[in-house]
Amino acid sequence: MDTAEIRRRFVAHFERNGHTPVPSASLLLDDPNLLFVNAGMVPFKPYFLGQETPPYRRATSVQKCVRTPDIEDVGKTTRHGTFFEMCGNFSFGDYFKEGAIELAWELVTRPVADGGFGFAESLLYPSILDGDDEALALWRKVTGLPDERIIRLGPKENYWSMGVPGPGGPCSEILIDRGPAYGPDGDFSAEDRYLEFWNLVFMQDELSSVRSKEDFDIAGSLPKKNIDTGMGLERVAFMMQGVDNMYEIDVMFPVIERTQELTGRRYGANPEDDVRFRVVADHIRSSMMLIADGVAPGNEARGYVLRRLLRRAVRSVRLLGYEDRALPELLPVSRDKMGETYSDLHRDWDRISSVAFAEEDAFRQTLRAGTAIFDTATAAVKQSGGRQLSGDKAFALHDTYGFPIDLTLEMAAEQGLSVDEDGFRRLMTEQRERAKADAKAKKGAHRDAHAYREVADSIGRAVEFTGYTDVVSEGTVRGLVAAGGVVTAAREGDEVELVLDRTPFYAEGGGQLADQGVIELENGALLQVRDVQSPITGLVVHKALVLSGEVTPGAAAQARVDVERRRSISRSHTATHMVHKAFREALGETATQAGSENAPGRFRFDFSATGSVPASVMVDVEERVNDLVLADLAVHAEVMTQKEAVASGAMALFGEKYGDQVRVVSVGDWARELCGGTHAHRSGQLGVVKLMGESSIGSGVRRVEALVGGDAYRFLAREHVLVAQLSEVLKVRPEQLPERVHDIVERLRTAEKEIEKVRLGQLLAAGGELAAGAADVAGVKVVAHRVDGAGAGDVRTLALDIRGRLPAAAPGVVVVIGQAEGKVSVVAATNDEARARGLSANALVRAAGPLLGGKGGGKDDVAQGGGTDPSGIDAALAAAGAEIARAAGAS
Ligand code: SER
Repeated sequence: MDTAEIRRRFVAHFERNGHTPVPSASLLLDDPNLLFVNAGMVPFKPYFLGQETPPYRRATSVQKCVRTPDIEDVGKTTRHGTFFEMCGNFSFGDYFKEGAIELAWELVTRPVADGGFGFAESLLYPSILDGDDEALALWRKVTGLPDERIIRLGPKENYWSMGVPGPGGPCSEILIDRGPAYGPDGDFSAEDRYLEFWNLVFMQDELSSVRSKEDFDIAGSLPKKNIDTGMGLERVAFMMQGVDNMYEIDVMFPVIERTQELTGRRYGANPEDDVRFRVVADHIRSSMMLIADGVAPGNEARGYVLRRLLRRAVRSVRLLGYEDRALPELLPVSRDKMGETYSDLHRDWDRISSVAFAEEDAFRQTLRAGTAIFDTATAAVKQSGGRQLSGDKAFALHDTYGFPIDLTLEMAAEQGLSVDEDGFRRLMTEQRERAKADAKAKKGAHRDAHAYREVADSIGRAVEFTGYTDVVSEGTVRGLVAAGGVVTAAREGDEVELVLDRTPFYAEGGGQLADQGVIELENGALLQVRDVQSPITGLVVHKALVLSGEVTPGAAAQARVDVERRRSISRSHTATHMVHKAFREALGETATQAGSENAPGRFRFDFSATGSVPASVMVDVEERVNDLVLADLAVHAEVMTQKEAVASGAMALFGEKYGDQVRVVSVGDWARELCGGTHAHRSGQLGVVKLMGESSIGSGVRRVEALVGGDAYRFLAREHVLVAQLSEVLKVRPEQLPERVHDIVERLRTAEKEIEKVRLGQLLAAGGELAAGAADVAGVKVVAHRVDGAGAGDVRTLALDIRGRLPAAAPGVVVVIGQAEGKVSVVAATNDEARARGLSANALVRAAGPLLGGKGGGKDDVAQGGGTDPSGIDAALAAAGAEIARAAGAS
C-alpha cells in the first residue's frame, strides 16, 4: 500500500468518526520554544491549554514535522527521519482514553479489504504507563488481549510532553513485532524489533518545567481531558510495503535509486555506504520541505539546520564517489514524489530549487578552500604523532572558511582524529560575546517562559489588544516581571516588565516593531514603555522604565501609545503590503515575502527571487505603488476563517494556522494579506513611497529597503538640494549632470596619467645621475639613496633603474629608501657580479628594516621592505652601507 493510500485511509477513518480534517500547518509556527513543528499537536497547542476555543471538538491531520536532535542516527536505524509526517487524531475535551484506544485499534486491525491496515493482532503489543490501571483495563476490554501482551513502561517511554513547558500526559503506544531478525524475543527495548508506530497521549496535565523525559513538574490539570495521537506515516509505510526501513518506502527510495545511478555504487553492498544512501534520501527531502516553508540557509537557528542538512546530503553523495553538483539531480526526484501531496513544491519550484542549488554551489566553494587547509592541518597533527586537531584550527576553519564544526568533526573522524571541541566552543563563545557587546541582545530568544506563564495563568484569558482602534486605553496592572521572576512592586528607576489586562500597545510581531509610549497609574506613577513583546500566546509584556512613583499589581492604569511613532510604523506596514503585491505582479507569484521589518518611516522587505531584480522592475514597482497611494485606497481589516480568506484571494504566508479565525488586511481590493499588524486608514496617508535599492541577503532572498511618508519626502528633498548645488557648481542644467561628471572624470583620468608620466620621468632622470655618482666600496659600486615623497612602487622602479645603469662588468649594489604618507619603503638590488662577491639584497633589507620600524626581505637579487618610522631612514642607509662594506670586505 503506498504512502498516499495510508494517509487517505487514516483521514477517512477519522472523518467517518466525526473528526474535522485539518490541513498540515507550515513547519514554521510562531512558538518561541520550538524551532520547527515537531508533532501533530503543535498547531493545536492553544486549544489544549485552553487559551483558545477550538472550532471543533474532534480533528484529524497529517502534519509535516521536523526533528533534528537525532540527526546523527539518520540512516543508522530503520526509523530516524529528520522530516516525517505524523498522522494524528485529536479530541479537545471530547472522547478520552477509551475512544482513543477503540479508534486506533479498529483502524490498525481492520482488514485491508475493508479500508484498514490489516495488522495481525498476534503481532501487536499495546503499552501503558506503569500504574495507569485505567488504560490497562481499557486495552484489555477493547482488544481482548491477555495481560502479558500489554507492556508496562516507565515515564521515559510512556509519559509524553513537548520537552518544554506546555501540555503533557501519560500515553499508550502500539508496538508491532517485526520478528527475530530484528532483535531478541521479549526485549521491548529492541526498538527495531518491537517497533512503536502509534502514540496515544492522554493529554491531561500542564507541565511547568521539563528537565528530562522522566524529570518534570506538573503544575496542574489542563482545563479539559484531551487526546493527542501520533502515528508515524513512514513507519506504517515501511511495514506495509514490506521493506526494511523508512528510507526505502515509495516516496523516498527513488532518491536512493538515482544516487546509485550517479555514483555507480550499489545500495545494499556495504553498510557504510548504505548509511550514506539513506542520509541522502532523508536530508534531500527534509531540506526541500524546509525551503518550501520559507527557511533559507544561514548560520543560526533554522537556517543552520537547513544548511547542515543540505551540506550533509552533498557530502554523503561525494563520499559515495560523485563529485559533480548533486542537488540538481536529486532534488527533482524527491519533488516528484512529495509533490503528489504538497503541490506547492511544483508551484514554487523555481525558488526552492534555486535556494538549494545556490547553497550547494557555495558549499562546494567552501569545501575546495577549506579541505586544503584541513588536509594540511591534519597532516601536521599526524606527523607530530598527535591524535587531536586543536580548537584553534577548528575555529579558524569555521571562521575563515565557513566549515561548520560538525563537518570538521566528521572529516577528522574519517582521518582517525578527534577535535578539541571544548577549545573550539570556548573560542566561539568568546567571539559571540564580542558580537553581543555590539549588537543589542536579540529579543525574544530563549526566554524563560515560567514567570510569563504564571502571570498569564493569573489573568486566565488572553490580554485584550485595543490598539486596532485606540491609542489610549484604560486597564489594570495584572503582573510584574523583573529579572525572570514575578515581582510584587517596582519603583522609580526600576526596569520592569508590566502586564495589563488590556492594552493599546502593539507587541513586536509579524515584522512590525513594538509601540512605545507611557503608562500612568491611578497613584500618579509614570512608566516609559520602551519595548513590547509577546513571549507566549495571548500575553503582552511592556518593557518599561519606572520614571516616578511605585507600581503594584491591581492598580488601574492608562496606557498611551506614542501616536506619531505608531502612525509612522502603520504607514510602513501598509507600504510593505503594497510593495509585496506590486512585486508579485511584476515578478510572479513566487516573489513571496520572507521577512520584513516595519519601522517608523522606513521598512525593509525580504522576498524570494532568483537573481537580482532588474532596475526597470524597481522603477515599475515604485511607480505602481505610488499611483495606488494617490488613488487613496481604503485600508480595512476583516476577521474570517482561513478558508474564506484563501477564497478571497488573500496571500497566506507561512506561520499561519489553519482552522483558525484569521485577520485579513486589504488595501482597496488590490492587496489582500493575512496580517495581525496595524495599518494606515487609507493609502493616501502614505504620502510617498521611495524604494532605496535592493540587494541579496542570502541564497535566493532579496532585500528591498524603502522610505515612507515624511522620511521619503525629506530624502527626496535632500537629493534635490544636492542636485541643485552640483548643477550650480558645474554650471550645467541638472539633466546634463551625468554627462558633465563623466567628462570631468575622463579628463581627470587623462591628466593623472600625464602627471604620472612626468613624475616618473623626473624620478628616473635622477637615476642616471645617481648611477654616475656611485661610490666605490672595496671595488663594489654602491648607490645608497634617500628619496622623500616616493612610495613603495616608485622606490622599486628607481632602484631597478639605477642598477640597470651601473656597469654590468663590476659588482654593483643599490639601496633606495623612500617615504610617503608616513610609510617608509626600502628596496635593495644587486647585479650578478655583486652576488658573485657574496652581496645579498635580502641581507641588506634585513639590516635596514628594523631601523625603519618594520621588516622585509626577498631574494638575493632584489629585496623589499617597509616600516613606519621615517626618523630611522639615515640610520638604515648607514646600516645597509655597513653591511655592504662587511660583505665586500669579507670576500
Ligand atoms: N504528541 C505525541 C507525539 O509526538 C503524539 O502525537 O508522539
